[in-house]
Amino acid sequence: MTTKVALITGANKGIGFETARRLGALGITVLVGARDERRGADAVRRLREEAVDARAVTLDVTDPETVFRTAAWIDEEYGHLDVLVNNAGTATISRRRALPSETSLDDMRAVYEVNVFGLVTVTNAMLPLLRRAPAARIVNVSSEVGSIASQTAATSPLSTMPASAQYPSSKAAVNMLTAQYAKELAGTRIKVNAANPGFTATDFNDHRGIRTAEQGAEASVHLATLPDDGPSGILWGHLWTTEGDGDGGYGVLPW
Ligand SMILES: NC(=O)c1ccc[n+]([C@@H]2O[C@H](COP(=O)([O-])OP(=O)(O)OC[C@H]3O[C@@H](n4cnc5c(N)ncnc54)[C@H](OP(=O)(O)O)[C@@H]3O)[C@@H](O)[C@H]2O)c1
Repeated sequence: MTTKVALITGANKGIGFETARRLGALGITVLVGARDERRGADAVRRLREEAVDARAVTLDVTDPETVFRTAAWIDEEYGHLDVLVNNAGTATISRRRALPSETSLDDMRAVYEVNVFGLVTVTNAMLPLLRRAPAARIVNVSSEVGSIASQTAATSPLSTMPASAQYPSSKAAVNMLTAQYAKELAGTRIKVNAANPGFTATDFNDHRGIRTAEQGAEASVHLATLPDDGPSGILWGHLWTTEGDGDGGYGVLPW
């Protein structure tokens, strides 16, 4: 049996790194996508210390040249790709929280470049390789904040959070892209799903999250390793509730 190969974007730290670690522990070769060569090499060194078969790829999702170069390299080295985790993401480039009425369009465009256009660039570049795998899985790391149903339901904890334009709408776009890719690829061996890590303590939120990075990686790992009779075209992951400690376990979230 040939070893499975997974590419994880933004895997040098946070949820992406933990996803690489956990997929690697399952015996999958992990290609650690990092936009900074040194940070990627450092992550690979830490993964190899845990006996993970990890290799670094320098990939900035907003730079198509690095994406196409990565696809060509994977083709040469492996000839196919079993798992793509579109994990790279950002909430704001300016680090400024803003109401929709105060949103900087430059900041919004920069967030969309990474979260939305970057995801499409990487997915389309990797699709020929994914089509050659026996049972490929695409995981788009999204968020419950991109769920319009959760944002607008009075019973959701999200309904009381401050309004914001760029990040939630970018993840709503990720959700729709997931549904549309799943629609296009229905009838193929490729499953496409969106993952909700839950509010996870990483650099992303200055470690204010309530879940560990390992817990945050759970949804991506689950969707990356779905069996052949598993779903395609869903948003799955941590369920945040208004009950008790807010931990509702895992399951399908509304779009
Ligand atoms: N943390 C949460 O509570 C939470 C909740 C829901 C969803 N998410 C999603 O989970 C994913 C991972 O977030 P995280 O919490 O692990 O954040 P993180 O620790 O800040 O990691 C983000 C990763 O994305 C990379 N990245 C950013 N821009 C990139 C680009 N242009 N090209 C390639 N890589 C890029 C970063 O690289 P550098 O190190 O070079 O900056 C880093 O590796 C994101 O999609 C985020 O939206 C997070």
